[in-house]
Amino acid sequence: MTLLDPPPETTAAALRGQLVRHLTESGSLRTEPWRAAVEAVPRHEFLREGFFEPVPGSAPTAWRPVSADADGWLGRCYTDESLVTQIAGTIVPGDIRGEILRAPTSSSTMPSLVVRMLEELEVEDGDQVLEIGTGTGWSTGLLCHRLGDERVTSVEVDPDVSRRAAAALGTCGRFPELVVGDGLAGHEDGAPYDRLIATCGVLELPRAWIGQTRPGGTVLATLCGWLYSSELARLTVEGDGVARGRFLGGRISFMLARPQLPPPLGMLPDMDTGDERVARLGPDVLDDWDARFVAQLAAPRAQHVRLTRDGRTEHVVLDVAAGDWAALTQDGPHWTVRQGGANRLWDAVEDHVLRWRADDAPTVEHFAIAVTPDAQTITWPTGR
Ligand SMILES: C[S@@+](CC[C@H](N)C(=O)[O-])C[C@H]1O[C@@H](n2cnc3c(N)ncnc32)[C@H](O)[C@@H]1O
Repeated sequence: MTLLDPPPETTAAALRGQLVRHLTESGSLRTEPWRAAVEAVPRHEFLREGFFEPVPGSAPTAWRPVSADADGWLGRCYTDESLVTQIAGTIVPGDIRGEILRAPTSSSTMPSLVVRMLEELEVEDGDQVLEIGTGTGWSTGLLCHRLGDERVTSVEVDPDVSRRAAAALGTCGRFPELVVGDGLAGHEDGAPYDRLIATCGVLELPRAWIGQTRPGGTVLATLCGWLYSSELARLTVEGDGVARGRFLGGRISFMLARPQLPPPLGMLPDMDTGDERVARLGPDVLDDWDARFVAQLAAPRAQHVRLTRDGRTEHVVLDVAAGDWAALTQDGPHWTVRQGGANRLWDAVEDHVLRWRADDAPTVEHFAIAVTPDAQTITWPTGR
């Protein structure tokens, strides 16, 4: 820094002002209390250990570290991008030089998504909030600014991530209750909550979240699947383990809750066995976000892989735990599907997707969700 440079804190405040303008203009930041929170809580304090950036052109994505003393680090902390802070469950930016090809496991979510979710949570003064997925702690800090530290509890599954978040929050003078544990169990000790917000995705809404939110309270979470289509849902709790709501749109995706990550594929089934027929739908149906979401409802634990065997590309959809599989190969103008296991996965996907198409293929933001003590049901509107 030279004598003519502004002190870093002035620069950070100016960058926060720019971020607030961007978030307001893009429509994600809509109300004064959250504007004041984004202006007050310094995101860069939550990224002091650096972050990982994607290596341009890499596929699958490779990541390289950006340290806090790198040129442009401060500016990047105030851009509207998600910044990955941990890879493969343990690796932080200071641990490596060069590039790494493993999956991100913690991040500071992109500001426009964080503030959109906070706005969608529709908090009121005095609300008690449970956050699942503390991550860097930036969103926790925004909640503290809006409601007061004593009204915010945040659960993080990874003790190191939680410890770093506690340090960053402390630097900002914030001391909410931070819990280390599996957020899928919520945090019974502080229940009932007025609002529950999850910043990791889930395959289905945990019963604990409904049970720990007061009747009339709100649960906001992203429903995901292993075919990687997902959407943000907001539910109102009705009591007795029942909650109902709808999807909010925006094709929101989050890293999945760690206990719900897909199992490794391991040994593949013998795909020369099984029943064969002409497919009613080809695997290209899975290229479409909404159709893929519908397919996931039919095959909730299925994963999709492309294999090359004997020079031919085969699309395999398989549920590792159940041992069900479907392999699709192109046969001139048709697709052929071979299926094995106790359940015919592709039959279920085709039935569901074709029924959804017959109902005019509404996009996921028109879907509804209901959770009862026995089941979670996701439906789309019919007879529009
Ligand atoms: C996208 S990050 C959270 C971003 C954070 N809200 C922020 O603003 O920095 C998701 C976090 O959820 C955590 N997580 C994953 N599974 C979890 C679980 N079962 N319970 C609690 N936290 C979990 C991850 O370790 C990760 O830190």
